[in-house]
Amino acid sequence: MPLRLTLIAAVSDDGYISAGKGIPWHLPDDVAHFRAFTEGKHLLVGGSTYDEMTGWFRPQHTVHVLGKPRSPAAPKVRFYPDLGTLLQTAGREIDAIIVIGGSSIYEQTIQAASQLVITHVHTQLGQGKPFPDIRESDWTVVRQQHHPADSRHALPFSIVTYNTSVLRG
Ligand SMILES: NC(=O)c1ccc[n+]([C@@H]2O[C@H](COP(=O)([O-])OP(=O)(O)OC[C@H]3O[C@@H](n4cnc5c(N)ncnc54)[C@H](OP(=O)(O)O)[C@@H]3O)[C@@H](O)[C@H]2O)c1
Repeated sequence: MPLRLTLIAAVSDDGYISAGKGIPWHLPDDVAHFRAFTEGKHLLVGGSTYDEMTGWFRPQHTVHVLGKPRSPAAPKVRFYPDLGTLLQTAGREIDAIIVIGGSSIYEQTIQAASQLVITHVHTQLGQGKPFPDIRESDWTVVRQQHHPADSRHALPFSIVTYNTSVLRG
């Protein structure tokens, strides 16, 4: 069975996930959503994002890192020299993986993804690390939930789940 890929990201209305380094907004309810969605799952992450997130991984996560080997941030961390090896190796053991970024990893995996879980953060960053274009013809919105700005969230956001409308394989 092919490995099912879900990409999860928080993206500004002008298409950026970061202004340069780190996450450019503080949205506790989106962090809670990210934690709940990824809890106990197999995750695919690029080397730079892994370096930023080392304190965040839990023993329950299995973390598949694309890039040079680094110190393991959790008991189940594996490093892969290229994407083909990662997908092939993981695909022998599991049937689903969640891609958690960063920009270069989203760019390389979106064409193989069957689902996107995007937090559209209603702000403009103007520049930074991009998320690839979400082409309307390739995706169907299956769920969306709006969160207004409030005392804990300086920006409003909408969490939208897209399923692919393109036949993969
Ligand atoms: N808003 C969000 O939802 C969100 C989510 C995640 C990340 N981010 C942000 O995204 C930014 C990082 O994105 P990024 O594109 O700079 O970095 P990245 O995708 O996290 O990592 C890039 C690194 O991954 C490795 N890599 C990528 N493709 C590879 C391939 N085909 N084969 C082997 N290794 C490969 C290389 O690691 P080596 O250097 O080890 O060779 C490369 O330097 C950060 O600012 C982060 O905060 C935002």
